Amino acid sequence: MDFEKHQNLHTIVMLRDVIRKWWQVELSFADRNGLVHDWQRGDFIPPPNDFCRHSLGAREGMRRCAQSVRVLHEKFKAAKNLRRSLFHDCHLRLSIVGAPLYIRNEYEGFLFVEGFARQPLMPGDGQVLLGKMRDIAPGAMLELEGAAERVPVLDGSELSKLSDLLEFAVTEIANQEVELTRKEETIQSMASELSNRYRFEKIIGRSGAMNEVFRLMEKVAHSDSTVLINGESGTGKELVARAIHHNGPRKDKPFVVQNCSAFNDNLLESALFGHTRGSFTGALKDKKGLFEVADQGTFFLDEVGDMSPALQVKLLRVLQEGTFLPVGGTHSREVDVRVIAATHKDLGEMVKRGEFREDLFYRINVIRLQLPPLRERKDDLPVLIDHFLRKHHREGQRARGLAPEALGILGAYAWPGNIRELENEIERLLVLGGELEVIPADLLSSRIRDAVVPGGGPFIAPRAHGKLHEAVESLEKEMIHQGLVRTRYNKSRLSRELGISRSNLLLKISRYGLDKGIPEGLDTEEVEA
Ligand SMILES: Nc1ncnc2c1ncn2[C@@H]1O[C@H](COP(=O)(O)OP(=O)(O)OP(=O)(O)O)[C@@H](O)[C@H]1O
Ligand SMILES: [Mg+2]
Repeated sequence: MDFEKHQNLHTIVMLRDVIRKWWQVELSFADRNGLVHDWQRGDFIPPPNDFCRHSLGAREGMRRCAQSVRVLHEKFKAAKNLRRSLFHDCHLRLSIVGAPLYIRNEYEGFLFVEGFARQPLMPGDGQVLLGKMRDIAPGAMLELEGAAERVPVLDGSELSKLSDLLEFAVTEIANQEVELTRKEETIQSMASELSNRYRFEKIIGRSGAMNEVFRLMEKVAHSDSTVLINGESGTGKELVARAIHHNGPRKDKPFVVQNCSAFNDNLLESALFGHTRGSFTGALKDKKGLFEVADQGTFFLDEVGDMSPALQVKLLRVLQEGTFLPVGGTHSREVDVRVIAATHKDLGEMVKRGEFREDLFYRINVIRLQLPPLRERKDDLPVLIDHFLRKHHREGQRARGLAPEALGILGAYAWPGNIRELENEIERLLVLGGELEVIPADLLSSRIRDAVVPGGGPFIAPRAHGKLHEAVESLEKEMIHQGLVRTRYNKSRLSRELGISRSNLLLKISRYGLDKGIPEGLDTEEVEA
């Protein structure tokens, strides 16, 4: 631990002041090896006590002072986990008191004060002190005349006050150190998150699930291992695959994409592996396959779950040996390609059903990135909406954002088409309402509005704060109210739709006061429409 950074801690500054004023002593710090850095550097504040000052100023005196401090240090080390102050008499038979510093249960040194007597010095004591100093600093003898009377004396109660102050100070240092480390850690993790964000800047998301994706992407970008990206349609599989490629060592080489469900088997085989002239009708000349085009680079195999068993065998061979045979060819070709595969299907289940080769599955499932559907990371909606508003904003458009009701509906929608669907919706809103400053909810696609607010009517966003039972009740009240309007007060139908008994519905209608103000002629209607 570096004591320097705690020198300006308020407690330390105060403590220095107080002990100087009250007892004319100085505060020092010894590290976990019992070394006093200030002394070693020779830039210590001279102790007011003349004996200590001259002792520390002389070579032999300094050695003995350091030795006395080391003895106290050994005492702390021997008394493991002792958190109280200890005393020691130094080479001049003056006293040192120190309080040990523990940070996260690790001994880090001690704060100490030296150079005082624990009881008034007798005339003979002064002579003994002078005698010792004669060996250490013979030149200082004149100045030391009468110095014994100026040695500070701390009796029992004062000494215990000083010990308390030292103990308080080390606790403050320990707290500050923990706090500083915590801050450093936070800054570091923020910095690394920021750098991830920067590296993957086009991929928006700050939810826990997306942070996990970023963490894995960061790891796999530098490796060559095969990656399997799993996720529903529109969750960003291709975007992630590209980002992995562009942040890795192959970034200056090709990134090739092939969707495995796009072609029939023969065409796909020829697209992937190429063909030789005359290998099938229409094969007028040799054609390079995409695996060759992707040599040294990355091949993104989209919808790999749709590959036929025959092609699965060929893919396995490329992955294992880096070789393949073009359609109609007799010589195998060699390539160095990193494969990133993607699918919205559950390949594990397909293996169980015998629809996907187990060996290929294990070969591509080395690292799996699971992209969460948008409905499971609604926390990301605001940032995504903001991102797409900027991305599709056209020069001169006034739109700054969406009306709260529109945001509420987007937040309540399930987004089966995930981020692609969201992006399309925002793009569409900007085309329709880009001239307005705030885009209103009635411009939303009817598909989205109707899914959230069947039958139209205002959308009441569910509350995300307050008491749970109150929020549940307000939602219940709103659903029943809207249901009554939608079914034209047909309570039998509504109770079936809501999945509760008719009597229960009637009870709730009366509890929420929804039976008041029913339009005339509707409250008796109970027949199925
Ligand atoms: N996290 C994200 N941040 C910003 N844009 C995203 C994000 N995820 C997806 N997108 C955007 O959504 C659209 C769909 O993404 P992408 O094509 O990568 O999805 P996909 O999973 O490959 O979909 P599909 O299975 O339908 O092929 C793209 O325009 C992409 O830029
Ligand atoms: Mg895709």
